[in-house]
Amino acid sequence: MRDVGYDDFIDRLRAESDIVRIISDYVPLKKKGKNYWGCCPFHHEKTPSFSVTPDKGFFYCFGCQNGGNVFNFLMKVENIGFIDAVKLLAQKMNIPIPQREKSPEELARDKERARLYQANELARDFFCACLTKTKYGELAREYLTRRGITSDIIVKFGLGFAPDAWDKLLRALEGRSIAPEVLLKAGLALNKSSGNGCYDRFRNRVMFPISNPRGHVVGFGGRVLDDSKPKYLNSPETTIFNKRPILYGFHIADSFIRQTGQAVVVEGYMDAITAHAAGISNVVASLGTAFTLDQARLLRNASEIVFAYDSDTAGQSATARAMDIANKLGAKVRVVSIPDGKDPDEFIRKHGRDAFCELVANSLPILDYQISQAFFNVDYSNLEGKVQVVARAVPALAASENAVEVNGHIASLAETLAIDEGAIRSEVSKFLLHDKKDKNVKTGKNINMVSLTNKEDTALDQAERSIIRFMCDDSTMVPYVKAKISAEDLKVESRRQLADLLFSTYSKGETSADWTNSLNEAVSSELSHIMLMNIQTDDITKTIDDCVKTIQITKLNLLYEQHRLQADELERMGDSSYLQELAESQRIKNEINKLHSL
Ligand code: UTP
Ligand code: MN
Repeated sequence: MRDVGYDDFIDRLRAESDIVRIISDYVPLKKKGKNYWGCCPFHHEKTPSFSVTPDKGFFYCFGCQNGGNVFNFLMKVENIGFIDAVKLLAQKMNIPIPQREKSPEELARDKERARLYQANELARDFFCACLTKTKYGELAREYLTRRGITSDIIVKFGLGFAPDAWDKLLRALEGRSIAPEVLLKAGLALNKSSGNGCYDRFRNRVMFPISNPRGHVVGFGGRVLDDSKPKYLNSPETTIFNKRPILYGFHIADSFIRQTGQAVVVEGYMDAITAHAAGISNVVASLGTAFTLDQARLLRNASEIVFAYDSDTAGQSATARAMDIANKLGAKVRVVSIPDGKDPDEFIRKHGRDAFCELVANSLPILDYQISQAFFNVDYSNLEGKVQVVARAVPALAASENAVEVNGHIASLAETLAIDEGAIRSEVSKFLLHDKKDKNVKTGKNINMVSLTNKEDTALDQAERSIIRFMCDDSTMVPYVKAKISAEDLKVESRRQLADLLFSTYSKGETSADWTNSLNEAVSSELSHIMLMNIQTDDITKTIDDCVKTIQITKLNLLYEQHRLQADELERMGDSSYLQELAESQRIKNEINKLHSL
């Protein structure tokens, strides 16, 4: 796409642009020394940690670590791509963009897209006029009024009505020189099965225009006024309508999402609309159930995403998937549980704005939510129920990366279920042992599990546990470790036992699952700790070598200390054998130094 002239142009644009001036359009900046400071537009803050360095042409936020050049700033603040950022900057700087000759195909495509946008916009205006100004729209007006939709909201969301006829839209847009072929391509019309002409896709439905992030109408959802099926009919995918990166209401909610740093995601058109009508403006709808990675990316300006899906089972499994996706992108995820089987629309209309905001404020972090789901519909007064709850909770506990939270949950689960904490811990470790076995460690990827690693753990504890963990994760590491250390080299009895078991099961050719069942409590709890550690490596044998080194050095350091003390003691007593002790301690020191230099 780009040619040399274009790259030159971009360099020139960056060189000539005054980053302080550009950013000042969005953020009030104050000069302090060489740099400028303001409150970061990318996260919520009261004291300025957002800095601009005009010399270097960079911005950086010490709060959220966002930074980059003037293009990065515009891309992020306007939520646009690089090319659009270039265009915008050129416009702000009043520099004309060199025009590259487009191929005839490109020109034709641009023209078609422009026509589709135009057709959708005209259709929206037509539907809107039908709803608000004509007798066709009377029933739909009543319907919306019954659902609490005022004319303000109708205007804000461009709601409309498709009349109960076969070709009203076709005729109306023909009058505006939009040919039937364009409506076909826009998904607004369908071919008759006779092959002779076409008809309106949307008939006798309340129309919800769907906009892309820049606010252009790209498709529609149409709702029946009664109970007939399908309840909602949606535009098919077209050249301009790809559903994956669309969130309903995003173009309206975007600025509020930036302001609050929080996005609330609901399922349906009406959920989003009712929320906005109630003055809750950071709400978008994922339309149907599958929340996509592209949708999550749209919400990159939200540091927290709150899912408020329907409380039915479909909504709940959608929540689970959605959380997973949002979580992958590193957003903080919380989940609202809406009481008495309602969706947000019904809830807000019944209980009001404040009650919903309270639900959002009290929404559960991802793990709390998953744990609460584990209890859902289970009678845990009997053993069978307890087992079921634990079985459901374990994968969530194992997947979490927050050690403090995991420990808290294990404790409270144990208390609620009146069972032993150690039992839950050993289930979690078994799960990790089986689930993660071989997969991550062997491929050298990060093992990103719960870290129960205590801050007070010494390097020695860490090293000993890591070694055991590597052997658990990948039994082919057992002989490698065995050749380097013996179980007696380890500091703690439970670890010595674990190492012993690993060594002997390996030589007997048994699988890891066999020996984990017969551990006593102290050993089992140590194993849980080990299995829940957060270990990152991309070279296992090197990491094992380092751990072995740490163990050996610690041991030698101890020995060195002993001989030094002994030497001091003897010298004070006038015993000349202190020289031997000194020599021995020196020998140990040399050994330590040798290990260090390896
Ligand atoms: P719901 O069935 O929960 O509908 O579907 P809703 O949003 O509560 O609608 P109302 O309140 O009855 O008007 C949630 C979303 O799933 C999509 C729509 O985007 C809907 O808003 N959906 C649902 C469809 O696309 N087609 C359907 O037939 C049903
Ligand atoms: Mn509903």
